[in-house]
Amino acid sequence: MPKLSRRYVHMAFFNLIWGLTFGGLLLFHKGVPLTPLMWRLLPLHIELMLVGWTVQFVLGIGFWIFPRFWRSRGNETPARRAFWLLNIGVWTAGLAGTLNAPAEILLIGRISELGAGLLFVLYVWQRIKPPGTGAWGKKRV
Ligand code: HEM
Repeated sequence: MPKLSRRYVHMAFFNLIWGLTFGGLLLFHKGVPLTPLMWRLLPLHIELMLVGWTVQFVLGIGFWIFPRFWRSRGNETPARRAFWLLNIGVWTAGLAGTLNAPAEILLIGRISELGAGLLFVLYVWQRIKPPGTGAWGKKRV
């Protein structure tokens, strides 16, 4: 598994652990109410489970298994930048809801996540091809 995939997957599990913890706390709070403030964890829980865990795990494995160009995965820079944008976005958007931050902070988080998605698609597009061909599926001569 390449280094960048390991980074994605490690971070996905890190987010899973926190997302499950917050989900567990919310579940407990539904049975044994602790403080109404507990519901502030819901946006962070949703962000971590849907994007920080699920999407991130898929991207990390995708980077690993999409067809390569012989041994190369091409220019990996956009996928590396997508990793940072995704995680900055997840925690900014999640904490914005939890800390009741201004809507602009939530927007920054969402733009960061969107940027991550676009960069990853831009990167991976050339690897959506039959094995043994060059970028965009062109036959090698
Ligand atoms: C991949 C797994 C999960 C995803 C994608 C996920 C996502 C979500 C989403 C979208 C909501 C909001 C639902 C709504 O407002 O109607 C939610 C609520 C909640 N989640 Fe999760 N969740 C996951 C796993 C878990 C787990 C494992 C727990 C418990 C340990 C948990 C506990 C909760 C609780 C207590 C709520 C609040 C439910 C309510 O509004 O009464 N979640 N989750």
